[in-house]
Amino acid sequence: MKKHIFRTKSINEFMLETKQDGGMNRVLGTFGLTMLGIGAIVGTGIFVLTGVAAANFSGPALVISFIIAALACGCAALCYAEFAAMVPVAGSAYTYGYVALGEFWAWIIGWDLLLEYAFGVSTVAIGWSGYFNNILMNLGITLPHALIAAPYDGGIVNLPAVLILVAIAVINIRGVSQSAWVNNIIVAIKLAVVGIFLALGVSHVDAANWVPFMPYGLSGVLTGASIIFFAYIGFDAVSTAAEEVKHPQRDLPRGIILSLIICTILYIAVSAVLTGMVPYLAFKTTAAPVAFALQAVGYHWGAAAVSVGAICGLTSVLLVMSFGQSRILFVMSRDGLLPKFFGHVHPKYKTPVRSSVLVFLSTAITAGFLPINIVAEMTNIGTLCAFIIVSAAVIILRKKAPNQSRAFKCPLVPYVPALSIIFCGILIYMLPLVTQIRFVVWLALGLVIYFGYGYKHSLLTTLRRSTAPAAEETAPVLPEGEETRTISMH
Ligand code: ALA
Repeated sequence: MKKHIFRTKSINEFMLETKQDGGMNRVLGTFGLTMLGIGAIVGTGIFVLTGVAAANFSGPALVISFIIAALACGCAALCYAEFAAMVPVAGSAYTYGYVALGEFWAWIIGWDLLLEYAFGVSTVAIGWSGYFNNILMNLGITLPHALIAAPYDGGIVNLPAVLILVAIAVINIRGVSQSAWVNNIIVAIKLAVVGIFLALGVSHVDAANWVPFMPYGLSGVLTGASIIFFAYIGFDAVSTAAEEVKHPQRDLPRGIILSLIICTILYIAVSAVLTGMVPYLAFKTTAAPVAFALQAVGYHWGAAAVSVGAICGLTSVLLVMSFGQSRILFVMSRDGLLPKFFGHVHPKYKTPVRSSVLVFLSTAITAGFLPINIVAEMTNIGTLCAFIIVSAAVIILRKKAPNQSRAFKCPLVPYVPALSIIFCGILIYMLPLVTQIRFVVWLALGLVIYFGYGYKHSLLTTLRRSTAPAAEETAPVLPEGEETRTISMH
């Protein structure tokens, strides 16, 4: 069994699978990918978690927390870019794991990504609800606390969070042609709103608010970094669109790196201005810190504009992330590691409807009934773990397949991937113990599913059974008549 759980799939096999039945529509270029990236990245992290992190962990040194998290993500992004250009298929890190490390690690990454996307979507829906309630309150409407907070926060259910997820599920099921178009407009609004905030806020920065700079010490700054790491999640979602990119080998690395650079610059500017406008402790009282800061210095119209823009921005994150998750489920099901049920493509909408419904159910339950910090921390730990495995995979594949053509090469291997592993490891270490324990439970559940189902039903097992033992080690071809599926996304 040991030999089989570490069996790998070749890059050619993956590429062959994507071409079955004609493959998906290749319509995206660098611009579209970068927009997709910014759509996935700028969201609850900057609009909501900045307040949580500044008030409780980083203080005014929030900027340093953002820089530390950016370093971790920058190194991981270079590793992602190498793989994305080499294996441009929809499964993202899950696929890279399959190629470099074998099925078992691919499963672990896929399982982590499911955690990242499911809990990420829930976190953003909770953040969305915070800004939505802020707008309603400005209009003089106050919803009962029982209907806008999770039981842990003294409520019954976070209803606005659940309702926005219903809307997102409907859009995703109807097909992403709609969502890609909607995404571009929303990203433009989101960037405009961040611009408005910076333009209005910068003249109200009072350097006195930056003192003391690190009220919770270095460990506070690092814990802050492990929380606002969430703000960068999403650049990896660019790679899940690989099968719809016109020139994936050129455009994927560009899209991943460009969207991360743009967001890093925005984040550093926003966090410096935000903590300069208002004393950091004031953020303890708000779920909408960016609007709150503008309100505090007297820009009520600016606060209203930022709230509306944040709502748009958070909606685009929800679209891209729930899209990404249903695609990961789709690819894992295509490989046989999850039941074929999830890979089913709706004949009319040409989207994986069942995956989308599952995504909706799981995210609605977590967003409706759990508080934002628990959900965000689970997202972060799952993502950090996937980043670590992908970074290790770059080093390993350089050794295993040195001559494989690489359209984009991560610089300074093995140092950059090693730095990525170290940075991500530190951020995992800084997360609360209870989050680490919950993550171990999640992994254990994943192992039960893999050994109970995935291992036996994997396409590679099916192939092994259907070919003569002598042929076992030769590169397998896809079985004839294997059900083929395509997804229409644009
Ligand atoms: N980075 C995304 C956000 O902050 C997930 O909402």
